[in-house]
Amino acid sequence: MTNHILIKNKLNNFDKKIQVSADKSISIRSVLLASQAVGTSKISNLLESEDVLHSLRVIKKLGINYTKVGKSYYIKGYGLNGFNIKNKTVLNAGNSGTLARLILGLLVKSNSKIKLVGDKSLSKRDFSRVIKPLRLFGVNIESKNNLLPLQIQGTDFLRPIKYDENIGSAQVKTCIIFSALNTPGITQINSKISRNHTELFLKFLKYPIKVIKKSGNEKILVEGLQQFNSFEYEVPGDISSASFFIVLTLLSKNSKIVIEKVNVNKSRIGVISILNMMGAEIRLKKKTIYNGEEIADIHVKSKKNFNAINCPSKLNSSAIDEFLIIFLVAAKANGVSKFHDLGEMNKKESKRLDLAIKFLKLIGIKVDRYQNDISIHGNPDLTLTNKFEMKNFLKDHRIFFLCCIAALTLGGKWKINDKDSINTSFPDFLKTLRMIGAKIN
Ligand code: S3P
Repeated sequence: MTNHILIKNKLNNFDKKIQVSADKSISIRSVLLASQAVGTSKISNLLESEDVLHSLRVIKKLGINYTKVGKSYYIKGYGLNGFNIKNKTVLNAGNSGTLARLILGLLVKSNSKIKLVGDKSLSKRDFSRVIKPLRLFGVNIESKNNLLPLQIQGTDFLRPIKYDENIGSAQVKTCIIFSALNTPGITQINSKISRNHTELFLKFLKYPIKVIKKSGNEKILVEGLQQFNSFEYEVPGDISSASFFIVLTLLSKNSKIVIEKVNVNKSRIGVISILNMMGAEIRLKKKTIYNGEEIADIHVKSKKNFNAINCPSKLNSSAIDEFLIIFLVAAKANGVSKFHDLGEMNKKESKRLDLAIKFLKLIGIKVDRYQNDISIHGNPDLTLTNKFEMKNFLKDHRIFFLCCIAALTLGGKWKINDKDSINTSFPDFLKTLRMIGAKIN
């Protein structure tokens, strides 16, 4: 069966209202937190992508049952550490770094030995970032070179920790917060700012967690062993998925789009700030607060000229999954755009910084790199006519999306491999593009 698509035509002149898939970070957190609540939680608009389906399979293997009725998922939890774990349990996190890192935090008290595995891409990613704090809690972890597969065995003698989280990783922060839930006493995390969905979710659940903001940093205090009740939650749209449609619209001629009900949490909208700094006029309308999260409709229209940017690295964590698509705008900008300190991009589903450079060179854009800083020499007249194909991107969903948006806005005849990668985060991606008018074979 073919697993590629062909795009040979640009897309222009559209005026549409769309919704993108539900937020992946919040979907995974809602499933995992429902597995620890007391009673049956109801989650609506859960993202039904592979990363989230793996999360559901993982909690099921840990003895938590769920059903789907209509469009909602019902998950029955038995409180903190309420798993029922069989001997020799193997958990498969698939492609999901978020699931793999977060679930470890919920296993810190389980006495059985549990093996955690993942797919080819996840098995190349470094787990030392979570192994280190987990060991400080007293958890036993065995792993070769800090990679998957790894084995975790929890303990009844957990001790609270004080930890400096210096990467700015929400996965690491959440793994520690989840471990703290099962640990007596108060755990303290001094964390570089990263997405804060876990903290907001726990506050919504009235869990005793305190966040004290400092400049560029947060002190998070989590009191352990407090039970919380089941909940109802409707997952909003994902800004990471929306970002591909934002850039599609910006770079297409004579086009407009409204993307409805997207999560626009401040810790996630670096992409909007950066694109607006480059000259886009992206507007947020109908803002509301839902269980601590900010939701809005995103209004975008085509734009002819973009300025180059010297991107402040303080925006890195709030745009970490969106730099690939931001680079496409930099490729069309007037001047040289500079991005700094993007080493974390190489720790994602693929080595995204390396692949972004390969991609930009493929489309004829000059890129200079110094360690983890890059300069992109924009060409406002960039249009493509040749044949293009990106190879060996480890089925990274976001590289697939990037190639589609490049094909639809810059032209050229594109063969884009690994179509099924869209199932990682946005199964309706191609359907949504076709709905706007894209011709995809
Ligand atoms: C995520 C955090 C980010 C992000 C990932 C999802 C999360 O990773 O890249 O796609 O849901 O916590 P890091 O926390 O490792 O930066």
